[in-house]
Amino acid sequence: MTVIGAGTMGRGIAQVAAMGGYDVYLVDVEEKILRNAVEGIQKNLQKGVELGKVSPEQQKASLERIKTTTDRKLAASLADFVIEAVPEIIALKIEVFQDLDRICPPHAILATNTSGLSITEIAASTRRPEKVIGMHFFNPVYLMKLIEIVRGMETSAETFAVSKEVAARMGKEVVEVNESPGFVTSRINALIGNEAFYMLQEGVASAEDIDKAIKLGLNHPMGPLELGDLVGLDARLRVLEHLHATLGEKYRPCPLLVKYVKAGRLGRKTGRGVYDYTNK
Ligand code: NAI
Repeated sequence: MTVIGAGTMGRGIAQVAAMGGYDVYLVDVEEKILRNAVEGIQKNLQKGVELGKVSPEQQKASLERIKTTTDRKLAASLADFVIEAVPEIIALKIEVFQDLDRICPPHAILATNTSGLSITEIAASTRRPEKVIGMHFFNPVYLMKLIEIVRGMETSAETFAVSKEVAARMGKEVVEVNESPGFVTSRINALIGNEAFYMLQEGVASAEDIDKAIKLGLNHPMGPLELGDLVGLDARLRVLEHLHATLGEKYRPCPLLVKYVKAGRLGRKTGRGVYDYTNK
């Protein structure tokens, strides 16, 4: 298996793939990023051992299965299955997929971890659209049980079946989604988050009480406003704008959310979003 991109998601995917018994080549553009990624995986597995969730043998075997390189050609020419996790920029994904299509063996399946771009469009840039599929992992990868497997227009039944098997070996549950903006999870999550902002704007309840109601009343692990602060209100707004443009009026971003983003109150990463983190 080859994983392209060793950032937040790529390193997590490489870890669960190695734990599932795959020999993994992890690829990025700089050695430093790859060293960081391996360090992160080592730390994560060590924590797993300390918590009794990973055996020392599994830790050792998993680490031995991961190799890194900045030479995409070397890794891809050996791959049976590729998972791409480079930044969410369509031109970049297409460049990577066209290159993979040229280099990888003809039987290789090419999966993308995009959180919302069109699988059909990415697939159409290759000569093997039937072997291109979406595998949408969640962060942190080792902890989150789900992978949304997303079929593009030309994705074959065999490609879907193999991807499902790969997910099972990584210890994940899957749902099958026909490509549509936001898949299942991002679309529903965006609506819940937007509705919470409308309630805040209308003065229905305080931010604390909206989050408390959803956590204690509906059993969500986090409230929609604190979750927005965690992922970044700019990221949340981008998803809503995409859904609004593709699916219609229901997804129009709440004006209060737009105002927070204009003010630079993006959440935890800027110290202030709906909540204030400057003293935390
Ligand atoms: P990131 O920015 O942490 O990592 C991206 C990595 O790709 C960087 O290390 C970068 O150096 C590398 N890269 C860039 N161009 C490359 C190239 N041509 N060849 C090889 N490596 C290259 O991004 P992150 O958060 O890991 O996201 C990756 C993908 O996963 C995106 O499509 C994102 O939408 C998706 N995603 C992200 C989630 C998250 O919570 N961060 C959750 C689910 C999906």
